[in-house]
Amino acid sequence: MTHNSALWITRKRGPFAVDSAPMPEPRTGEIVVQTRAIAVNPFERLIQTVGDLITPWIRYPAIVGTDVAGEVVALGSGVTRFAIGDRVIGFAAGAEKGHRSAEGAFQSYVVLLEHMTSPVPASIPLEAASALPLAICTAAAGLFESDKLAMSPPSETPARKNETLLVWGGSTSVGCNAIQLAVAAGYDVVATASPANHAYLKKLGARAVIDRCDPYATASVIGAMRGRRTCGAIAIGSGSARACIDALAAASDGRRFVALATPPVSFDDVPAGAGRWRKLVPVLARIVLDNLGLMLRARQRGVRTKFIWGGSPVGNDIGPMIFEHYLPAALATGRYIPAPDVEVAGDGLTAIPGALERQRRGVSCLKLVVRI
Ligand SMILES: NC(=O)c1ccc[n+]([C@@H]2O[C@H](COP(=O)([O-])OP(=O)(O)OC[C@H]3O[C@@H](n4cnc5c(N)ncnc54)[C@H](OP(=O)(O)O)[C@@H]3O)[C@@H](O)[C@H]2O)c1
Repeated sequence: MTHNSALWITRKRGPFAVDSAPMPEPRTGEIVVQTRAIAVNPFERLIQTVGDLITPWIRYPAIVGTDVAGEVVALGSGVTRFAIGDRVIGFAAGAEKGHRSAEGAFQSYVVLLEHMTSPVPASIPLEAASALPLAICTAAAGLFESDKLAMSPPSETPARKNETLLVWGGSTSVGCNAIQLAVAAGYDVVATASPANHAYLKKLGARAVIDRCDPYATASVIGAMRGRRTCGAIAIGSGSARACIDALAAASDGRRFVALATPPVSFDDVPAGAGRWRKLVPVLARIVLDNLGLMLRARQRGVRTKFIWGGSPVGNDIGPMIFEHYLPAALATGRYIPAPDVEVAGDGLTAIPGALERQRRGVSCLKLVVRI
C-alpha cells in the first residue's frame, strides 16, 4: 500500500513537523493527486503563527498549504474532467472552513476539488504551474466577485471595455495574476511595482507601470489613468489601500471601488510562541485604528472598499469559472502564463518551513516552490 507523509502543524501555533499521514480517499467530486511541486504563500506561515485569529475553525494537528501541482492518482465518483495520470494544478482547500486536512497541500498525496483543478499542458513544468492557484484565486475573487469589482469574466476573445483597472502591487504573485486576468477580460491595466519589474509587468499586459516607491507614485498613477473610465482597483501590499483610495478619488469617471488583498497591518513579526502578546497587542490595536482611518478616508473621498478572501472561489461560481472554463485553454495556448517566475527553494516536505521563512524575508516578483 502507498504511504503518505505530511508536514503537520502539530498543535495550535505549534511547530511544523513531517510525519506519516492517512492515505486520502476522494469523495464525490474530488480527486487525489500525487504532489510534485508545492508553492508557498504568506497565508500559510500566518496560519502557523496567528491561525487562532485568522482561521479559528482549523482543528490541530492540521495539514495546511494551498498551491499544488502533481499527477492524478485516484478519482472520486462523479469526476469527469480528469483521468489517472493527468498533470494538474489545484487550489488545495484544507485551510478553508468546512474542509479537512486531507485537502491541505503540504503532503505527498492530496485531495483536490474537481472544480478547483485545471490540467497543465506538457509544455509547462509543474514547478512553474504550482505558482498559480492561490494567487489566481485571490486576484479572481477581487476582480470578478459580485460584491467586489464585479468585472466581466476573462475569455479567449475579450471585447475591449475601455475601462482601466489599477493593480497596486503588480509584481506580487496576486498582482501578476490580476494583470493577466484583467487583460484577458478586455480591460486596460495600470500597475505599480519596483522599476526592475516594469518590463515583466508590461509583458503580462499592463499598459503603464509606475514605481511604487516613488514619493509621487500616486500622482503618477492618477496621471496614467487621467481621461479614462476606471473599473476600480485591487490593492496589494502594505500601504496600497490608502494609495488606491486616493488614486480612485481623483478619477473623473467610472467605479470607485477598491478590492483589498492585504490587511492594513502585517502579522509578519508576531511569533507563535514567546513574546507573542507583546507583539500582538500593538498589531491588533493598529488594525482597529488603521481600519477606521481607511474607512474614514474612503468615505470622505467617495470610494468603497472590501476585503478579499482568496479561498472564497472554492464555494462560489468564480472557482469553476477560472479552473474549469478559463485556465485549461488559456494555459494550453500560452495566452495565460504561470506568473511570476518560480525558484525551487528545496526538495521534500522538510524544505517547506525554510521556503516559508525565505518568503517572509521578502521576494521580488518571484514564487518560491518546493519540489516533492
Ligand atoms: N486576502 C487574501 O485572501 C490574500 C491571499 C493571498 C495573498 N494575500 C496578500 O496579498 C499580498 C501579496 O501576496 P503574494 O503572495 O502575492 O506576495 P509576494 O508575491 O510574496 O509579494 C512580493 C512582491 O511584493 C511587492 N511588495 C512589497 N511590498 C509592497 C508594498 N508595500 N506594496 C506593494 N507591493 C509590495 C514586491 O514588489 P517589488 O519587488 O516590485 O517592489 C514583490 O514583488 C500579501 O499581503 C498577502 O498577504 C491576501
